[in-house]
Amino acid sequence: ALVDKANYRHFMAKEIHEQPEVVGHTLARYVDMATERVTMPVKLPFDFKDIQRISITACGTASYAGFVAKYWLERLARLPVELDVASEFRYREAPLRKGDLAIFISQSGETADTLAALRYAKAQGAHTLSVVNVPTSTIARESETVLQTLAGPEIGVASTKAFTCQLMVLASLAVAAGKARGELSDADEAKLVHGLVEIPRLMSEALTTEVQIEKLAREISKSRDVLYLGRGTSYPLALEGALKLKEISYIHAEGYAAGELKHGPIALIDEHMPVVVIAPYDKVFEKTVSNMQEVAARGGKIILMTDAKGAAEATIQSLVTIVMPDMGATFAPIVYAVPVQLLAYHTAVVMGTDVDQPRNLAKSVTVE
Ligand code: G6P
Repeated sequence: ALVDKANYRHFMAKEIHEQPEVVGHTLARYVDMATERVTMPVKLPFDFKDIQRISITACGTASYAGFVAKYWLERLARLPVELDVASEFRYREAPLRKGDLAIFISQSGETADTLAALRYAKAQGAHTLSVVNVPTSTIARESETVLQTLAGPEIGVASTKAFTCQLMVLASLAVAAGKARGELSDADEAKLVHGLVEIPRLMSEALTTEVQIEKLAREISKSRDVLYLGRGTSYPLALEGALKLKEISYIHAEGYAAGELKHGPIALIDEHMPVVVIAPYDKVFEKTVSNMQEVAARGGKIILMTDAKGAAEATIQSLVTIVMPDMGATFAPIVYAVPVQLLAYHTAVVMGTDVDQPRNLAKSVTVE
């Protein structure tokens, strides 16, 4: 299919803005909005009650979707999850038992390392389930179960809408697993599904932060390094934020678990180092605030992405706050992905890089 940029300057901008719509499409395939139940579009060839552990494997941005899913599956379904990048998983001979569940996440469905990891898991007798955007891809064809993301064609090399659609599918799967294992009641399921149904609207609201982020991007573009911090499900999002920024703006960026700050990266902080803190007001918010205080005390410039409650509670100077819509904490990473992507995008635009085709990168990596 021929895809154009519509009125956008880059495919990436178009794809960021399409997210409320395509995440909504994806959601409609995995939940029944009327009854507020999760409905897998295909019958799973295993019962979650029989699964003892899950391994998740992917590359790049898809691996960060997997990392968020680890938190969800462990919390909602009490299933232990191991997460690997495919280039490691395929060679380290990870012991899988027959009947284990191995999940693979890939936009293209053609990434060579992810495909090799899938073949390895299959040979070990594991159930293989893949979350892919291209249903005719090799990974989709070779997987026992395919859960499709309905992001539509993604042209920008840096993944955006595929990522949030992957999160939507994985969130639904985690709720289904929790339900099947008796960890979630009907009422819990309804509440969680209700939360998922709200997400497209919340993403549209999150897009209104763009004007503010555009201004901020001019500041960020003057930096040599940027640090991203988060706790809980915001930690993988910090990793994704740093990846997005470095791949399209070529500014060095690192994502860290907020609690690890004192074990190294704090040594780098001075007034030239912006620190992006992703922190919806949740159970670990106070802990993250104390990490922000450590940054502020060393003159670091903080960019805080939080909600109104968090903004009111975080009394720290030298702070730019991006105020996000109020929402439950569980699925916040799907919505917080939006400002994270916008910041990378606008910084790259200021830098004048080739946003859709960054140097040295390929959309689909079919070689090792
Ligand atoms: C490349 C792309 C990334 C993508 C990764 C995995 O590095 O530039 O945006 O996240 O491959 O691709 P996949 O198609 O397997 O999701």
